Amino acid sequence: MASGGLSFVVVATLVIVSAGLMPPPAVAELATDYYASTCPNLEVIVRSSVKQSMAQSPISAPAALRLFFHDCAVRGCDASIMIVNSDGDDEWRNSDNQSLKPEGFQTILDAKAAVDSDPQCRYKVSCADIMAVAARESVYQSGGPYYEVELGRYDGRVSTRDGVVLPHANFDLDQLTAFFSSLGFTQAEMVALSGAHTIGAADCPFFQYRIGSDATMDPGLASQLNGTCSSDPNAFAFLDPSPVAFDNALYRNLQGGKGLLGSDQVLYSDPRSRGTVDYYASNQGAFFADFVAAMAKLGRVGVKTPATGGEIRRDCRFPN
Ligand code: HEM
Repeated sequence: MASGGLSFVVVATLVIVSAGLMPPPAVAELATDYYASTCPNLEVIVRSSVKQSMAQSPISAPAALRLFFHDCAVRGCDASIMIVNSDGDDEWRNSDNQSLKPEGFQTILDAKAAVDSDPQCRYKVSCADIMAVAARESVYQSGGPYYEVELGRYDGRVSTRDGVVLPHANFDLDQLTAFFSSLGFTQAEMVALSGAHTIGAADCPFFQYRIGSDATMDPGLASQLNGTCSSDPNAFAFLDPSPVAFDNALYRNLQGGKGLLGSDQVLYSDPRSRGTVDYYASNQGAFFADFVAAMAKLGRVGVKTPATGGEIRRDCRFPN
């Protein structure tokens, strides 16, 4: 194109943009200071609310962190996991989400109530952003790394039971890698994200099938878990020996065959990802840095804008 034509295109584009004729960008632009003028105390409010939730229950932090993953992995980080549909067709009623603990949902609802009790912030902060900050606080207040959370997500209006596709605890490395790759993650990023299992617990059905049949499980752990689960079918076990401390113990555990979930243990037993496990087991700082980067990336999955049907939900459980 001749330079005269090109400059016409540039000028015309500038005129259209400055006249406000261009539609808002479909891809959300997140920013750590997104609420600087509308809700400057957001971080302080959510920090203190999550702190209270954690004081009330040790389940709050792991449950809120897992909830964030289950939200972002399905329809993007749009708080669709929080929606309660009157016809019962919603994400949280999918069988893969039935083990999400009520404490995680309550942590988000309490944080949202705290944010909305500040007149400056009322109905200005999305549930999706509150979930992202609450997930960071769950990590940080458990002794894990601090990181700035990018903000500016809008809440979705859709949640369906059939829309839920999540990884399972009996997945092998190829299945895990394929799932995370579909969200844009590398295998190494998946290993870092799995480090979230440094806090929290799992119910017996998620690991009991491995006892006596999975040779990668340490025999001592197998007999211990057998004792736990055979006496009480509703029993649970901690995902790592320091279940309220966010650290790299999970990876050291995996080196000793002491991973609870098959999907965690396979990261070590399969030689293709073992190197990353060894790296994080020996270097907590590297794990923290990579976990933070992967969490930021998780927080960008499928982010909604008003142009793509997003809104700021008043009640996290119901679209406006
Ligand atoms: C790699 C694929 C993953 C699989 C197969 C998986 C599976 C599971 C299972 C089966 C449980 C036990 C649930 C229960 O019994 O209540 C669990 C717990 C948990 N998961 Fe994952 N998960 C995966 C990735 C992630 C990611 C990426 C995160 C967050 C970044 C995460 C965070 C958690 C947390 C914090 C818990 C403990 C929850 C609690 O104590 O209530 N998981 N996961």
